[in-house]
Amino acid sequence: MIKIYAPASIGNINVGFDTLGVAIKPVDGKLLGDCVTIKSNENFKLINKGNFCFQLPKKIEENIVWKCWNHFCRILNRKILISITLEKNMPIGSGLGSSACSIAATLVAINKFCNEPLNEQELLKLMGEVEGEISGAPHYDNVAPCYYGGLQLIIKENNCVSQPIPFFKDWIWLVAWPGIKISTSEARSILPKKYKIETCIKHSRLLASFIHASHTNQSKLALKSMRDIIAEPYRIQLLPNFIQIKQNLLNLGAINCGISGSGPTIFTICNDKKIANKIYTWLSENYLKNKNGFVHICKLDLNGTREIGL
Ligand code: HSE
Repeated sequence: MIKIYAPASIGNINVGFDTLGVAIKPVDGKLLGDCVTIKSNENFKLINKGNFCFQLPKKIEENIVWKCWNHFCRILNRKILISITLEKNMPIGSGLGSSACSIAATLVAINKFCNEPLNEQELLKLMGEVEGEISGAPHYDNVAPCYYGGLQLIIKENNCVSQPIPFFKDWIWLVAWPGIKISTSEARSILPKKYKIETCIKHSRLLASFIHASHTNQSKLALKSMRDIIAEPYRIQLLPNFIQIKQNLLNLGAINCGISGSGPTIFTICNDKKIANKIYTWLSENYLKNKNGFVHICKLDLNGTREIGL
């Protein structure tokens, strides 16, 4: 029997639409991610558990885990006879890489179970493709950090999907999910199909500055560069009061904040524990819409998808 855990992630981190993402874990030691357990069985079987399993589709063929299993059977050209238990701990449509968690945990588990027929790059490529089937377009800014951990830059050249980027160790990352759902495909469909050349140039400048700042340990430059001119201007219509909320977080001492992935989770960065606690309280009182919502004070998860005890 194999049990695999895959962590939550923040896609885009403002400046790298579809090209930057970080894996995160709560500083209080709680798990924020999905688990997948696999054992051999006479037939394929899927058991759904976990706090958010009520959000999963009723039809098995629409379940991400089934899709992953089906892809793997096609690749190996045989029916893989296993029982899979998905612990769906991540809310679907939260902007925290919920689908990436299920995809990474399932594919890593099946690959391990089958004695690793796919190498890391093949596995990650497949993760991005499955993600694309669900969200409307392949993107790796959740699956890559979820799989490898840390801050990942999507390369997709030279047989390399992603590479780790140095990160600022004193940054504290907070995420607040209000308890409501935004579908990634919907949040992608409202983006323009074309951007002005000025926007493309500015975005290239900001992204290049962020990567340069990360490699040369210039946190001020990195923070200045973390501006979203690609998705945020269009997605704020899905997040009422976002501008005001962002201003309030900056007033409390946040050094950066933005939409996590396609939202509605907001991420906030600060570099002081007291400020982190203040922001935690403020977000808990002002951003959550129902009792399902949550706020977590996090650091980067450097391990990514991994085997854990049963
Ligand atoms: N980069 C993706 C998007 C992340 O913003 O659509 C989805 O969570």
